[in-house]
Amino acid sequence: MSLEKEALLRALGAEVIRTPTEAAWDSPESHIGVAQKLQREIPYGIILDQYKNINNPLAHEFTTGPEIIAAVEGTPSTSSRPSSGKIDVMVAGAGTGGTVTGISRAIKKKHNKECIVVGVDPKGSILALPNDLNADGEGSMYIVEGIGYDFVPDVLSRDPKDVNTWIKTGDDESFAAVQQLMRKEGLLVGGSSGSALSGALRWLKTNAGRQVAESEGKNVVVLLPDGIRNYMSKSWFLNIAMESEPSPLAGTIKQILGSSKPNGVALQNGH
Ligand SMILES: Cc1ncc(COP(=O)(O)O)c(C=O)c1O
Repeated sequence: MSLEKEALLRALGAEVIRTPTEAAWDSPESHIGVAQKLQREIPYGIILDQYKNINNPLAHEFTTGPEIIAAVEGTPSTSSRPSSGKIDVMVAGAGTGGTVTGISRAIKKKHNKECIVVGVDPKGSILALPNDLNADGEGSMYIVEGIGYDFVPDVLSRDPKDVNTWIKTGDDESFAAVQQLMRKEGLLVGGSSGSALSGALRWLKTNAGRQVAESEGKNVVVLLPDGIRNYMSKSWFLNIAMESEPSPLAGTIKQILGSSKPNGVALQNGH
């Protein structure tokens, strides 16, 4: 968990206990094991339990899903941007799986039962079906936060009618996609949003995906769940932000200010 998330929770008055990421979910050292111990010992302790709580997928079925459906239905089809008026493909990362499960139910029950729902799972996690233990490095560590687990939460539907297919993503492609989203779209998103975009682009190159990509007016919705402000101290982001190629303006600025000023000084000081 990033420093930003810890600081925010502490600012709200929370106690934060850090547990080792590598601890197996069912070990006493894991975040779940520690929470259970604390619940047993603290009078009236309660675990809201995002992994089992049916209100997790329900929140997405009754809020996130309808919001996406309204946005797509409310966007008119034009000659330059033709639209089927439907969500034809929905791509979302899975952590607890509440998001992808709930949105899928909203879309399929009330909007388009033919929608193809693609779950995105990081390499190192075991959520994707079918689990190919050899191909995807299950159990290996990954840096992207918020998606993937070493167990299958109850709120993640295993019904292939809910989540039709899965794509595995790696850290590097996710962070590269975040950089593209920032540079090209001005969207300041977190790492799992990069995984969702990278997974979507890769799925669109599969046989089923190409049929969608090559048909006019198909709508592919990619969920970008978190902003970069939760991850600004992370080295993957600092590498993107501080070590990126100089912009086309860099040379001009150097000319104006003279070469005596080292790179970046004027901007860093805000002058
Ligand atoms: C950054 C980020 N991305 C994706 C997810 C996945 O959402 P879900 O747990 O509903 O599968 C989460 C969940 O907390 C998250 O924090």
